[in-house]
Amino acid sequence: MKASVVAHKDYTISKIDDRVYGAFLEHLGRAIYEGIYEPDHPTADKDGMRGDVAKLVRDLNVPVVRYPGGNFVSAYNWEDGVGPREDRPTRLDLAWHTSDSNAVGVHEFAEWCTTVGTEMMLAVNLGSRGVDDARNFLEYVNHPGGSYWSDLRIKNGRKEPWNVKMWCLGNEMDGPWQVGHKDADEYGKLAANTARAMRMFDRSLELIVCGSSNSDMPSYPDWERIVLEHTYDHVDHISLHMYFANRDDNTPNYLGLAEKLDTYIETVAATIKQVKAKKKSKRDVFISFDEWNVWYHSNKKDREILDGNGGWPHAPGLLEDVYNFEDVLMVGLILNTFIRRSDVVKIACIAQLVNVIAPIMTEKGGPAWAQTIYYPYFFASIFGRGTALQLQTNSPGYETNHAKDTPFVDVSGVHNEEDGTLNFFLVNRHTSESIETEVSLQGFGNGTIIDHQVMTHTNLKAVNTAKNQQEVAPRKGEGAAIANGTLSVKLPPYSYQMVRVK
Ligand code: AHR
Repeated sequence: MKASVVAHKDYTISKIDDRVYGAFLEHLGRAIYEGIYEPDHPTADKDGMRGDVAKLVRDLNVPVVRYPGGNFVSAYNWEDGVGPREDRPTRLDLAWHTSDSNAVGVHEFAEWCTTVGTEMMLAVNLGSRGVDDARNFLEYVNHPGGSYWSDLRIKNGRKEPWNVKMWCLGNEMDGPWQVGHKDADEYGKLAANTARAMRMFDRSLELIVCGSSNSDMPSYPDWERIVLEHTYDHVDHISLHMYFANRDDNTPNYLGLAEKLDTYIETVAATIKQVKAKKKSKRDVFISFDEWNVWYHSNKKDREILDGNGGWPHAPGLLEDVYNFEDVLMVGLILNTFIRRSDVVKIACIAQLVNVIAPIMTEKGGPAWAQTIYYPYFFASIFGRGTALQLQTNSPGYETNHAKDTPFVDVSGVHNEEDGTLNFFLVNRHTSESIETEVSLQGFGNGTIIDHQVMTHTNLKAVNTAKNQQEVAPRKGEGAAIANGTLSVKLPPYSYQMVRVK
């Protein structure tokens, strides 16, 4: 089987916003406690943050981390997490039926962000709270001093404001599971008022309003239209979420979900344009895809904790999906979609970063390791920066529940003008056939292959564990070549590859 791709230097989609390689950390399960924070761990620093986890995060060069939720934020009182630890209250978290000691709050999270070299993206509580809480939290975090909340921050040990630019106006407010869930009109008005108040403090903030929790929500896509009609002039991004699952163990169909993701983005981009036209606005609103990942492996186990019979445990092992090899392909496809939609998707956050549906796993007192999906995320984040190319791809395809024609070969191309590299990320969705792929490199001069990484496995369900951390890992590719301005690469069935040319 054969596929062909044309990459032309002048045919581009957009400069990729680095923030599409962002991540998310919620006060949920063992993401914070035993994830990034474990004071008794042998690698813990003076603040109790795990050094081994920080290293794995640093290696990913994560540009932004969204915090503290998620569903958690919709009943979160941020003041509980500041001041002397011994005075912080333990609270019940209604979203995940757990308790939270508040040992980690905004100060500790901010310090950790500095340690791992990332920027904070904070969410305000628009579930149980509203405008007043948002303005107070903003003042605490961003005001230099001389006011009640900023002076409290200084008293609590942080002199300089953090100057957080990105703020989420609540989380998944369309979901009936959300504390303080609202309909689109109600939420749109609250979000607009909150945004107005926050902008009175600082006009340069980047504000993110909630879109749909997923494209199967009954209120989708009217939710986006109504919410934007209220907020269009006051926000910069609309947030989308999507989780991917292979519940019926049908891999071709599972991998076809990337088409559903693409349609979701396309539809919301069209809705943004519709509202822009209606408002006769000159401003642009973009998409912040601030929760995405594979999520289903842990569902059964979680149900037992979430039904409440487990009481209100502190940091139980919730949402601990153990990822397998086929999830590598899914994550590669998702990232390719964001690269190709980089004209409208400006922020995206893998959900989440540690332990909870995450590329990094930890054992209490033990090791931290990279799950299978760590690698496609790593390759895209490190080498997928620059300008997305408008590739012309011709590949045979197949039909799924989500689309009539899903190409077997999925590819994205990124031109990094700074270091002069051309980086391709390729997935072969074919069950049994290798696909000989030829990429015509036009306008790039004579290139040579500087790196070629391949991920394949004989077992789609193979996983990495604490004991066997390298079962699913990339290896150096062989056989790719460039001749007469054409890159030839063979894509084995069910494979992920990165080819870099300079
Ligand atoms: O990431 C896990 C949960 O998924 C988040 O708390 C919520 O926003 C979404 O439903």
